[in-house]
Amino acid sequence: MIPERVAAALAGAARPVCAYVYDTTVLRARAAAVRAALPPDAALLYAVKANGHPAVVAALAAATDGLEVASGGELALAREAGARRIAFSGPAKTRAELAAAVAVGVTVNAESVLEVRRLAAVAAGRPVRVALRVNRAGPGLPGSHQMAGTATPFGLDEAELATAVAVARTAPELDLVGFHLHAVSNNLDAAAHVAYVHEAVAWSRAAADRYRIELREVNVGGGFGVDYTGGRAFDLTALAGLPTGVPLVFELGRYLAADAGWYAAEVLDLKRTHGRWFAVLRGGIHHFRLPAAWGYSHPFDVLPMPPTEDVEISGVEVDAVGELCTPRDVLARGHRVDRLPVGDVLVFGKAGAYGWDISHHPPPEWSTWSVVWLIVYSARSTRSSSRRTSWQSRSGRTSTCADNAGRVEEISHTCRSCTSATPSIPASRVPTWAGSTPAGAPSSRMRPDARSSPTPAWTMSTATSSVAIASARAKPVSRMTSPASAVATSAYRSVSRCRNAPSMLRLVRSARATSQVPARLTGIPTSAVTRTKRPSTGGGCTSRWIASPPSHSASSSRVSPLACAERISARWSP
Ligand SMILES: Cc1ncc(COP(=O)(O)O)c(C=O)c1O
Repeated sequence: MIPERVAAALAGAARPVCAYVYDTTVLRARAAAVRAALPPDAALLYAVKANGHPAVVAALAAATDGLEVASGGELALAREAGARRIAFSGPAKTRAELAAAVAVGVTVNAESVLEVRRLAAVAAGRPVRVALRVNRAGPGLPGSHQMAGTATPFGLDEAELATAVAVARTAPELDLVGFHLHAVSNNLDAAAHVAYVHEAVAWSRAAADRYRIELREVNVGGGFGVDYTGGRAFDLTALAGLPTGVPLVFELGRYLAADAGWYAAEVLDLKRTHGRWFAVLRGGIHHFRLPAAWGYSHPFDVLPMPPTEDVEISGVEVDAVGELCTPRDVLARGHRVDRLPVGDVLVFGKAGAYGWDISHHPPPEWSTWSVVWLIVYSARSTRSSSRRTSWQSRSGRTSTCADNAGRVEEISHTCRSCTSATPSIPASRVPTWAGSTPAGAPSSRMRPDARSSPTPAWTMSTATSSVAIASARAKPVSRMTSPASAVATSAYRSVSRCRNAPSMLRLVRSARATSQVPARLTGIPTSAVTRTKRPSTGGGCTSRWIASPPSHSASSSRVSPLACAERISARWSP
């Protein structure tokens, strides 16, 4: 079911529609519900990696006790959002990021002995709160992504804890406040979660005793789950069984943000090959990668729109596929549609967390893009090198979190989340915009996410090969520039605008309750038909689009106001 306000927002979007819509009222409601379910002395943080849209971050900074960040970019974002409290996790913090964290007084969740040593080195006399992130041997939790209790790059092995404490003790600036024990992402079993928190608290108390740490923080991480394909829900009432009188910290991402976001993509073509129907979308996994990353079909609803072409299918199962030239660009498979015309918009709910933020989107002003990998194999050793086209160094998101795991796509580029503007990084060591700036771009500043690290595409053949994969579209999402109006994203002209693109629609207030938008079109023809009609006239609205009861009437009631909410990568601002 598409919420009326979301439909109304999309009705005002530029065609072809391709947008994320966020509803900040949902974010606030979610945070309030969790807050009410947690013990009063527990802190609730929002994990920015789930969705770094500034409007989302600002809404949740206000509705929670603070923010958890995993990069220098996210740290800057959290500060801009006015977070009252910040925790800095992540297994690959640089000295510059640590220095920035120390400067603004965040709690650093240290993930290795070396990181503790680095932190001590950069602290240089300034006090810093430190929690040791430990990957314990203890029992895990159910959930899609295990972070602890198994071999992962997250946290210290328990066997190294004594060393980490000893290193921390060599630096009087480091104030050991406790432990960080984030263990899993996307766990739907609330009772199991409660049991895990009890066990984590018991372990923390014992460890604190052993190492003579005054226990002021037990960060149990995030992990409350969201059921994307079924009707299960994480039962907040079970949290009544959580321990009290303990300085617990929760840092939730998915559960707070998922339900507040919708990804919408217009049907550009309908076709059948080898007996299967495909709805080809203006969009795809470069905007919404979660289904491909996790290998599931993300449910969608159809939003009727004024027609663009006179082609439709009805009563069939269809695969919702994107615009990339890869057969893996699939958002949903075998989804039954009663009626689906070209021009309607598929709306994917629960897209507010790990949607845009884990996707490999090219810069919006580029009409095509390409990736060239050159992997050279010699007889005795295999080595790889990559030649990055300019766009590659411009892309990337925080990719340290759960949802980037899973099936690897053909195109794989993973970028560090901090930027060339990170303090103390010499400019000469990072790429600049030179050679890749769109015509007219005057800025000579560093790109915000230049420090990216290519990951060779392992689907390459063993011969020296060069593969170009092209034609992801530009302008992946619409930009809402003024109340109730949307225009296509235009090419940006400077680095500072680069970080803002692509833009997203942001829903900030309720629409008047006058529009009726059905989740699906009515009428179920028995067989699949592709029908070509005469071109529509009269502004493109034939009765087929308007008269179908209760068809699209969202334009009669626009969301007001819809503020411009420009997208920002979780990168350090240049
Ligand atoms: C350290 C840390 N904290 C919190 C989270 C948020 O987890 P979730 O979105 O499952 O709540 C993550 C995500 O992987 C994480 O790595």
